[in-house]
Amino acid sequence: MTVAIKNNNPVTVGVALGDRAYDIVIGRDVLPSLGHRIAALRPGARVAIVTDRTVARHWLGKTEAALADAGIASSRIVVGEGEASKSYAVLQEVSEGLIAAKIERNDLVIALGGGVIGDLAGFAASIVRRGVDFVQVPTSLLAQVDSSVGGKTGINSPHGKNLVGAFHQPVLVIADTAVLDTLSPRQFRAGYAEVAKYGVLGDAELFDWLEAHHGEIFSGGAAREQAIAASCRAKAEIVARDERETGDRALLNLGHTFGHALEAATGFSDRLFHGEGVAVGMVLAAEFSARLNMISPSDAARVQRHLASVGLPTRLQDIAGFQQEGLADADTLMTLMAQDKKVKRGRLTFILLEQVGKAVIVNDVDPSAVRAFLQEKLSG
Ligand SMILES: NC(=O)c1ccc[n+]([C@@H]2O[C@H](COP(=O)([O-])OP(=O)(O)OC[C@H]3O[C@@H](n4cnc5c(N)ncnc54)[C@H](O)[C@@H]3O)[C@@H](O)[C@H]2O)c1
Ligand SMILES: [Zn+2]
Repeated sequence: MTVAIKNNNPVTVGVALGDRAYDIVIGRDVLPSLGHRIAALRPGARVAIVTDRTVARHWLGKTEAALADAGIASSRIVVGEGEASKSYAVLQEVSEGLIAAKIERNDLVIALGGGVIGDLAGFAASIVRRGVDFVQVPTSLLAQVDSSVGGKTGINSPHGKNLVGAFHQPVLVIADTAVLDTLSPRQFRAGYAEVAKYGVLGDAELFDWLEAHHGEIFSGGAAREQAIAASCRAKAEIVARDERETGDRALLNLGHTFGHALEAATGFSDRLFHGEGVAVGMVLAAEFSARLNMISPSDAARVQRHLASVGLPTRLQDIAGFQQEGLADADTLMTLMAQDKKVKRGRLTFILLEQVGKAVIVNDVDPSAVRAFLQEKLSG
């Protein structure tokens, strides 16, 4: 079992990537230590903070104070919140801002925010002066357990999400679990889908533990740190094995092939947050695995029950506006899945389950079986 049931705050998880190895520091109230940690890591570095307006309102002052406490002067670049900031225009704004702030090769960029800011600021850091180092200070649950770890950075193209980017690992990740107290409950739940994902895909004991402790994760007790640490350990281990996703890293896409199609079908709007799409997608992947006799229907039902018990959508019919606006027909969903960049040369690759706690990559899934399955799910 990967969850340590002891309360040592903070917890440090290492990401073993040779000369690009880094630590993820997780704990309640670790943000005030940011300045001293940066001073130790990069003495004399200049620092620029990239954040969004909402996060700035809650956490920029505390972040700047933490830096000032260690004698580090910082500049700030504040962009609009939301997915729309992962654009060429905002990338230009951030890159020019970093150059104007005289951020040079030995200096640091701090990404203070959710996955949008991590992806955007990380990508800007990877291209300004051919690459400056950056520190992730993830402020959403999704960013703490997923996007801040692993080095994928980028922006969206009019052709699709995350199509322009770079692998650029951070030099440090500081995940302060108290920062999540200002996150909306719906955003917190969406991030929790990715936490549950680590249990479902690779750690049955973690999944058992989440079933027992989810209440405390939501309320902010010690289980929150433990769940985030377990998630980071799971991701770090897979990333260390397969940094560039030529194999096992694809397991992290459990629920994402269906989920991305659902996000696209709802126009990447507030009807369905990414993590909510992953929740519905994970249940579809579990039920489809049961359909193929890979797992029992009761295991698939267990995944659905847990996600529903924390208030996540788990059925197509749970997606906001399903009754009024509908969703898409099975053929449209199939087309959207085929456009997903995880599809290789037209073949459908799915992450399916052999057990709760053991996912496998299945290439060449029969499209007609998927279509029939979706058709059935759409009709309730
Ligand atoms: N790089 C990767 O490996 C990876 C992995 C998963 C997702 N992503 C990307 O992450 C993005 C989604 O991340 P997200 O869900 O964090 O979205 P986000 O960054 O848009 O944050 C969600 C919302 O919560 C607000 N917010 C964030 N922290 C807050 C806090 N502490 N208090 C109050 N409000 C806060 C933000 O302002 C925003 O409005 C997507 O663009 C996705 O593509 C990247
Ligand atoms: Zn995801």
